[in-house]
Amino acid sequence: MKKDFKRILVTSALPYANGPSHIGRLTGAYLPADIYVRYQRMMKRDVVYICGSDEHGVPITIQAEKEGVTPQQLVDRYNAMIQDEFFKMGISFDHYSRTSSLIHRETAQEFFLDLLGKAILRKKPEMQWYDEAAKMYLSDRYVEGTCPICQNADARGDQCEKCGTYLNQMQLINPRSKVSGSTPVAKETTHWYMPLGDFQPELEKWIESKTHWKDNVINYCKGWFTQKLADRAITRDLDWGVPLPKQDNNRKPIEGVDGKVLYVWFEAVLGYISSTKEWAQKIGNPGKWKEYWQQDDTKLVHFIGKDNIVFHAIMFPAIMMAYNKNKSVDRFVLVSEIPACEFLNLEGAKLSTSRNYAVWVKDYLEKFPPDPLRYTLTSNLPENKDSDFSWKDFQAKNNNELADILGNFVNRSLAFTIKNFDGRVPAPGAFSVMDNDMLNEIHRAQIEVGECIENFKFRDACRRFMDLARNANKYFNDSEPWKTLKSDRAKCQNTLYVSVQVVKALAVIMHPFMPFTSEKAWKMLNMKEQVVGQNWNQVSENRVSAGHILGDVEILFTKIEDDMILRETNALNQITENKESDGSKPSKMQPLSNPIAIDDFTKVDMRSATVLQCEKIDGTSKLLKLQLDLGGEKRQVVSGLAEYYKPDELIGKQVIVVANLKPAKIRGVESNGMILTVGDGQNVKILVPENLIASGAKVS
Ligand code: MF3
Ligand code: ZN
Repeated sequence: MKKDFKRILVTSALPYANGPSHIGRLTGAYLPADIYVRYQRMMKRDVVYICGSDEHGVPITIQAEKEGVTPQQLVDRYNAMIQDEFFKMGISFDHYSRTSSLIHRETAQEFFLDLLGKAILRKKPEMQWYDEAAKMYLSDRYVEGTCPICQNADARGDQCEKCGTYLNQMQLINPRSKVSGSTPVAKETTHWYMPLGDFQPELEKWIESKTHWKDNVINYCKGWFTQKLADRAITRDLDWGVPLPKQDNNRKPIEGVDGKVLYVWFEAVLGYISSTKEWAQKIGNPGKWKEYWQQDDTKLVHFIGKDNIVFHAIMFPAIMMAYNKNKSVDRFVLVSEIPACEFLNLEGAKLSTSRNYAVWVKDYLEKFPPDPLRYTLTSNLPENKDSDFSWKDFQAKNNNELADILGNFVNRSLAFTIKNFDGRVPAPGAFSVMDNDMLNEIHRAQIEVGECIENFKFRDACRRFMDLARNANKYFNDSEPWKTLKSDRAKCQNTLYVSVQVVKALAVIMHPFMPFTSEKAWKMLNMKEQVVGQNWNQVSENRVSAGHILGDVEILFTKIEDDMILRETNALNQITENKESDGSKPSKMQPLSNPIAIDDFTKVDMRSATVLQCEKIDGTSKLLKLQLDLGGEKRQVVSGLAEYYKPDELIGKQVIVVANLKPAKIRGVESNGMILTVGDGQNVKILVPENLIASGAKVS
């Protein structure tokens, strides 16, 4: 964090209160934000974390119609449910509001009136799709049709989900009404428009200064600028939403506001402000929201998913620029950081709420504790590209990392101390090199994990944290306290004293990632103060003193058995199979290539070979150079396996190579053959003979 920021305001995208949360939602905007905020609190920075339910717009009314309830009933139900899920997952908002609140209505109307008063908004008649059967204008998602850019037949009136284009609904080809299914007609209606184009030069200049922003965000914006920003209607003909105010700032009636509401995206982003106002009231300091929004030494950070980039990097800043125009006081800050995430897939396929192809947070929580999910999702966060959640990986992370490494270390060091030193932290003597190394490693981990979090590299942060536990286990093993207990008691005391310090450091550093387990470990240490109150920067200095009495030891992570996982994957497969058998949805399988004759196949000479040596090719992220034993001869082959295998994992393995491929140079390195692999678009595995076979044996 640059020194010139005095406070941090963190927001997570306001979720639509139109359904329960699944892990995709959690991953995009909430989990990374929560880690960031928990860390900043421990850094003793002035940070406020704001969110709330997005309760307006067509996504709400469509779902209400589907469920046969009123929009109000719908948002009441899901607002409560979503909050409960976030709470149980440990998402630690300072305030969670609702856009149906009065304070939000007033805030949104105030912005509208300000822009109207400065004649920034343009009121103009335009054609819109109108459903004659239902007698209504078809706002946003009420109309669907073919995308003019990518030809996706199911593009929505506001945005094509497939190519990401933010559409004007009149561009849709073959429009159909979602209300009655009929073909709508074009009919004139009057709306107020935000002239985004007028702000393009200012926006472009502003974004140019954001050189450190993620590529995905910058590229999206540049794409927008090339297309040229157009006027966007910020009002809608709907009866659910923030109504347009009846009078302007001079108390003159505004013509034509009846039956119209603010466009949900115009007001939802302002929900961050109204939620902060509500927070300030809650803490008994109603004016305090202004510090966070109107002092330019605030760092404003929006955590969002990639589908929301345009609204946070263009629309919201443009609204703020418009509001700030001609003002010398009460000017709003613009966003400093937009760490937007890509999408999370599930078992190699796209999540789909309508098909129930998802892991629902509340289902998950009925079976497992929150932290293993937080850990798995964090270590796999789609920071720069889409990533995948699989139950097998979840099980592996829980069993092999959380239980076997982290849990094991905490457990055995505390249990051993309690058993052999009367439940007290033993007094240390002069430290050995190894002891000092371990103590220094605490300091390094604290610095490095912190840096990663500060720079929104949560995957790396999580990995670095687990490395501390891994190193601690190694230290414990190498120190062999079970031997020194008898042979060299002073050394044994050092080992356990140091180990307890590491447990304490782990509990603190773990806190942003796994707050529940952190509390549990803290309790085992029997610390007086609270773990949330710890100072991150003093992790290595603040030691547990010798003689301190430890608490009771509990298991931190329970192993997850295969059948638990099988049940989950079977349930998902069921959904995938149903989808494939009814023929209406595309299959996950890649299309087959054209048929070939057997002669074509036998031209390819494939052999078994043993990997003798393997190393990464410098300056590449994907390439490995392998030396193979092909029975009668040695071969050098270059293969793009570096993302999937470490060189060591391949040495000694048998592989299958295409042995009669013409030699080629790949990145300047000679390659004499090709290693066969199988890939499903996510994972790549090498093909191996079922049992060991002579090198050079022919594949047929
Ligand atoms: N409700 C939107 C969604 O779930 C996000 C709104 S973000 C906000 O995709 F900034 F507008 F609040
Ligand atoms: Zn499209």
